[in-house]
Amino acid sequence: MAFLNDNYLKLKTGYLFPEIGRRVKAFCDANPEAAQRLIRCGIGDVTEPLPPAAIAAMHKAVDEMAGRDTFKGYGPEQGYEWLRAAIAKNDFRDRGCEIADDEIFVSDGAKCDTGNILDIFGHKNKIAVSDPVYPVYVDTNVMAGHTGEANDAGTYARLVYLPCKPSNGFIPEPPKRHVDVIYLCSPNNPTGAAANRPQLEAWVKYALEHKAVILFDAAYEAYITDANLPHSIYEIPGARECAIEFRSCSKNGGFTGVRCAYTVVPKSLNAQTKDGAFQPLHPLWLRRMTTKFNGVSYIVQRAAEALYSPEGKAQVQALIGHYLGNATVLRDGAKKAGLKVSGGVNAPYIWVKAPKGVTSWQAFDKILGEANVVITPGSGFGSKGEGYFRISAFNSRANAEEVARRLPELKW
Ligand code: MLT
Repeated sequence: MAFLNDNYLKLKTGYLFPEIGRRVKAFCDANPEAAQRLIRCGIGDVTEPLPPAAIAAMHKAVDEMAGRDTFKGYGPEQGYEWLRAAIAKNDFRDRGCEIADDEIFVSDGAKCDTGNILDIFGHKNKIAVSDPVYPVYVDTNVMAGHTGEANDAGTYARLVYLPCKPSNGFIPEPPKRHVDVIYLCSPNNPTGAAANRPQLEAWVKYALEHKAVILFDAAYEAYITDANLPHSIYEIPGARECAIEFRSCSKNGGFTGVRCAYTVVPKSLNAQTKDGAFQPLHPLWLRRMTTKFNGVSYIVQRAAEALYSPEGKAQVQALIGHYLGNATVLRDGAKKAGLKVSGGVNAPYIWVKAPKGVTSWQAFDKILGEANVVITPGSGFGSKGEGYFRISAFNSRANAEEVARRLPELKW
């Protein structure tokens, strides 16, 4: 008799985005004409072609794979040295953050890494997440057995939820109580809010006092337009002693279908053994990666490296500018519709308050049914997301303009 992981049975419905996909498919099957004019602003998936620098690097790498002398088999599990060096220099040291090349671990996605990181943490940790929250942080903790059951709103026992609301600018504040592991996402998915320096300083102070670890998801860092906002948790003194940072090439280089990301684990970051001693987490993550992962493909790592070339950087900036331009169009459209909006300035997501008395899923159904636009219901990100919805700016400009035209036509 084989036993299954009972924790999976605690998970509420399906993962949010497949669930939305299922509902949209059912709508399209039943309404083929509406399906013709459907515009997807749901999942944050990029729409624009890859930067030419990445394409050229991949072509070259493919040709290398065709020659006996240049062919590559297994690479280092934690990433090729030349990519780790380019990342550490460009994303950190050039911005004043002391991160060494070998503190970078290249992977196939920030989503995978934020889930997999639980492998190196014990089961007794008190875990804090924001509410609303990127569902991966919650669901992977449920799978690992770190929670109790969920209530009807999808809130799990044993997790500490930190509310993100208009009064705190949708940035969670350190709790009064003790927690051991904290997930922070800035710029935030789903609310599009970005934490400022004092807010991150408060978190680092809390983490150092509580000997807690911050899991800092900076996948949307490239969308920060405000020069005063930190791009990395390591811009805050003390963060090397209390934080792991996750980054991705998905939303800046458009790699959602290519797959490349990285995680920073400083060698000065420690956590407690069950005997009360403090030991570094870096060797554990290295061990985890070398045991369970065989590295990102050579071709993809060459493409990621090309994003750091002068032309690659300019092309990435152009992509970000395109999506942020969409965000402005969509914000204006939602405002014209009389809706309250936030986000979309330092992030590709616009967080919209549904009209009074309208739930997130009711807003989803109305916008899908009448405007034929797919959005993401805020309640799918947590109970405090109820009454909100998220519009993704990942689209063509023509589609963003069309959505901005259709939203004000809705009669609520
Ligand atoms: C989202 O829409 O929230 C993101 O696309 C999800 C992800 O990046 O995994």
